[in-house]
Amino acid sequence: MRVYIRTFSLCIVIALLSLLFLFSKHDAESFLKQVREPTVAKNLSGVKAKQRPAATRAHRLGDVAHKVYSPGQRETLMQLAVVACGERHGEAVNMLKTAAMLSSRFFAHIFAEEQLHTNIRAALDSWPAFIRVKFSYVVHPISFPHENREEWSQLFKPCASQRLFLPMILREVDSLLYVDTDVLFLQPVELIWDMLVHFNSTQLVAMAPEHEEPRIAWYSRFSRHPYYGKTGINSGVMLMNLTRMRMTRFKNDMTSVGLRWDELLLPLFQKYKLNITWGDQDLINIIFHYNPEMVFTFPCHWNYRPDHCIYGSNCIPAEEEGVVMLHGNRGVFHSDKQPAFKAVYDAFKHYTFGEDLVKSFLLPLEVTLNGTIHTYCGKVSHFFTRGLGKTVKRIQRRTPPGG
Ligand SMILES: *[C@@H]1O[C@H](CO)[C@@H](O)[C@H](O)[C@H]1NC(C)=O
Ligand SMILES: *[C@@H]1O[C@H](CO)[C@@H](O)[C@H](O)[C@H]1NC(C)=O
Ligand SMILES: *[C@@H]1O[C@H](CO)[C@@H](O)[C@H](O)[C@H]1NC(C)=O
Ligand SMILES: *[C@@H]1O[C@H](CO)[C@@H](O)[C@H](O)[C@H]1NC(C)=O
Ligand SMILES: *[C@@H]1O[C@H](CO)[C@@H](O)[C@H](O)[C@H]1NC(C)=O
Repeated sequence: MRVYIRTFSLCIVIALLSLLFLFSKHDAESFLKQVREPTVAKNLSGVKAKQRPAATRAHRLGDVAHKVYSPGQRETLMQLAVVACGERHGEAVNMLKTAAMLSSRFFAHIFAEEQLHTNIRAALDSWPAFIRVKFSYVVHPISFPHENREEWSQLFKPCASQRLFLPMILREVDSLLYVDTDVLFLQPVELIWDMLVHFNSTQLVAMAPEHEEPRIAWYSRFSRHPYYGKTGINSGVMLMNLTRMRMTRFKNDMTSVGLRWDELLLPLFQKYKLNITWGDQDLINIIFHYNPEMVFTFPCHWNYRPDHCIYGSNCIPAEEEGVVMLHGNRGVFHSDKQPAFKAVYDAFKHYTFGEDLVKSFLLPLEVTLNGTIHTYCGKVSHFFTRGLGKTVKRIQRRTPPGG
């Protein structure tokens, strides 16, 4: 009799467990649907390819992701993308840290060379639960879209050109905020994400001008190809409606008919490859030179670079609203050339989650920035902390003491 009861309870437990498994699997699948890119991970040679999807899948779910987001939220989650190669994974992680510290929930697509995947995951997974619930992520391999893979790989350097292929790789993603690794959010991601709904019917991408001042701008003085607007656009912060990029036909100087994004890249590259200097940013400039009605130009304080202060301040909106995103191009986060930029990078890097944001982050940063006023960018570094300070204090008020 006892054996009977034992067997019976065991059966019930097993039945319950299987049910639980089925449910969580179903939940997992629907969550994945939103972020899965069907063509990329599929075809990676040999045994490895068989193992990869399972490993990636487990990771995509994280421990918390599928419990936290209701189906409705999954559709509208902000989507971030970054491409990390070479030594750039530390920067990418710090960028994500700023986003996680200051924003509400988002999903991150991290494209990285294989040898960086473990480090990136280890760094992100080491963050405390109250931060991890704010985002889910997937680490993608660097790759070309399945179609025309051979041709792509002969012409493009995969790392440098990865972002051009995002509309084709992330086929199921509607909209995406792409940022370079050397970008820091100083205000919440949602500020910039909300811009998507302000696109008019022809706009499908938002970027900031490359420069504020045509007389000292690079494109207007040196480029040997067409570019967008008076000074070109900077592609380090790029808000994209991918659905529209996939649907639209782009005017161009090669054929009289419009070409789809994926039809356009190869011939464009072939035509201009000897004339371009800044790689994919130049191609983006050429494309939107011929399609200016598709660009939403956002102001310089959304993509604030050393150019905006290096010889004196020329980004007026930053004075009023503070910097929204800080872009430390030319390596200034790591060199001593622009100590104000480096100070912000280091402050985020050294901040430990859970510590008092004002006392342990904002005030020490302000003190360090006060020590950089012998440089032009240091003189205006209160632009860096203006919006950041407000955001930090707002978060501080919302968070009960102790996290
Ligand atoms: C993988 O890609 C190569 C090159 O594009 C192709 O020849 C091969 O058939 C593909 N294999 C699978 C399993 O799709
Ligand atoms: C992107 O564009 C498509 C097609 O016009 C539209 O349905 C979708 O709502 C847009 N996405 C956002 C976030 O505005
Ligand atoms: C490339 O630059 C050269 C020199 O400025 C120019 O003559 C040529 O037309 C350019 N090529 C294209 C495709 O614009
Ligand atoms: C959308 O805005 C752009 C940039 O201001 C403009 O060039 C374009 O004509 C606008 N499109 C429509 C349909 O109004
Ligand atoms: C930094 O300098 C400004 C202006 O000199 C001053 O108002 C502010 O209190 C200083 N901040 C800190 C934290 O030292």
